[in-house]
Amino acid sequence: MFKSLKIGSSRSATVVLGVWQDSKRVPPSLSKWKTDVLELLSQKTFSGKRGQIVVSNKVLLVGLGKRGDLNNAGLQGIGGSLIKTLDQIGLHTIDLCLQATIPRGVASSQKIGESIIEGMNIANWRVDMFDGVATTTKRVLKTLTVGSPSKECVSGMKRGLIMSNAINDARRVAATPPNICNPPWMAKEAKKIAKSCGLKCKIITFAKAQELGLNGIVNVGMGSAEKPCMIILEHTPGGKKKSKEHLCLVGKTITYDTGGYSLKISNGMKGMKYDKNGGMAVLGAMEAIANLNVPTRVTAILPCAENMVSSNAYRPDDIIKMYNGVSVEVTNTDAEGRLVLADGLAWGCKHLKPTAIVDIATLTGGVVVALGSFCAGFWCNDTKLRKRVEKSAAHSGERVWQLPLWEDHRNYMRAKHADIHNSAPARGAHPIQGAAFLSFFVDEDIPWAHIDIAGVSSVERDRGLFCAGPTGWGVRLLTNLAESF
Ligand code: BES
Ligand code: ZN
Ligand code: ZN
Repeated sequence: MFKSLKIGSSRSATVVLGVWQDSKRVPPSLSKWKTDVLELLSQKTFSGKRGQIVVSNKVLLVGLGKRGDLNNAGLQGIGGSLIKTLDQIGLHTIDLCLQATIPRGVASSQKIGESIIEGMNIANWRVDMFDGVATTTKRVLKTLTVGSPSKECVSGMKRGLIMSNAINDARRVAATPPNICNPPWMAKEAKKIAKSCGLKCKIITFAKAQELGLNGIVNVGMGSAEKPCMIILEHTPGGKKKSKEHLCLVGKTITYDTGGYSLKISNGMKGMKYDKNGGMAVLGAMEAIANLNVPTRVTAILPCAENMVSSNAYRPDDIIKMYNGVSVEVTNTDAEGRLVLADGLAWGCKHLKPTAIVDIATLTGGVVVALGSFCAGFWCNDTKLRKRVEKSAAHSGERVWQLPLWEDHRNYMRAKHADIHNSAPARGAHPIQGAAFLSFFVDEDIPWAHIDIAGVSSVERDRGLFCAGPTGWGVRLLTNLAESF
């Protein structure tokens, strides 16, 4: 593991070259390194399978796999294998020359640089903030410096570094445990990140939220000694290119979800520090959006609370008058995410009148049952926005799958003693109930999308580029989405 990744050139850097699987001869584009490549190709263990690596004095040869099979995800995987080998053999300066073998039609030099750096930086990260004296896997305190003779490749590398740093930042905060990361800590952390990349950050405090009637946030957060808040981050682009569009992102930021009085059962609570991962996706995306100077105006809202049990906590049977005037009968205090998101959405619609509003949340266990960890659940009330989100999803590799939201679903949420309840008496269509509930807090004329990431925002075991823990899912999707306006 390296301390960090840097882009820069060095004379003594090892050249990283690629060859396709089962290629016996040195491709003409690599003739400059012919002797080294020939020698490496002759090693019996090397077949050019994707991610396979052999090294000589000056050259590192990496297998690209079968021609026709290589895509962005494949390139990221190669980045992951690369950084692990570099760490093992103790190399810390390289020059990327994969573009000498990979035709433009497969991937541009820009894309190669971007994907390789992304893969390297994501694979290099782990939760090391809490390493104590007993930790044996110590970090090599070296920086990895990556250069390339191709200008386009370097420009792609810069983008990949910005994006993956934002992903890793989102993962770092997501992994911070609830005894440290509570709503006041989160507000401070958001301010720090905002300052580092030039975003504006405002906090609506608990007292202010009470005064404004943000009663979803107030009620969900009331049971904790650490009071809730609403964090607002603003990206206002400069320059001539800026678009008229205004995108609003809302991320569920529950720093811990015990379920409240509808307490989670034994094993169901473990891992609920990740119930803030919608907010973390938004936070990471805002960092990337600022550092990439995206020409769209973007405002982020993180309704932030800890769902706890105490004599001040809200309870089943409470009836809450929400920010937009809708009354809610609490039937289950564990359906808290939709209550805080409702405030974020209603506040965003009223004060920002955005071109589009997108919320992202670890909202339901039901979406994990329905879709597993292959993709996020997705709802959208507007064809244009739906296409935009689906395009960004395809582009980023963070997949979404649309589920229905009909008037029948909305009616299912109507309650006996208030306008709606936060959870219907029957368990059917749980993820859709969440979306249907939220729809009562979005102005009908504002394009709105809801993304349920309960299945994808963390992994229990190491998987691909990701170590066990938070994935930063959504940072790429939301950044690409902002760029699409
Ligand atoms: N934070 C949970 C959803 C969740 C579950 C995320 C598992 C990640 C993994 C959410 O607040 C919740 O408890 N949802 C309930 C909703 C129900 C009470 C209507 C659920 O999914 O069971
Ligand atoms: Zn819950
Ligand atoms: Zn929750």
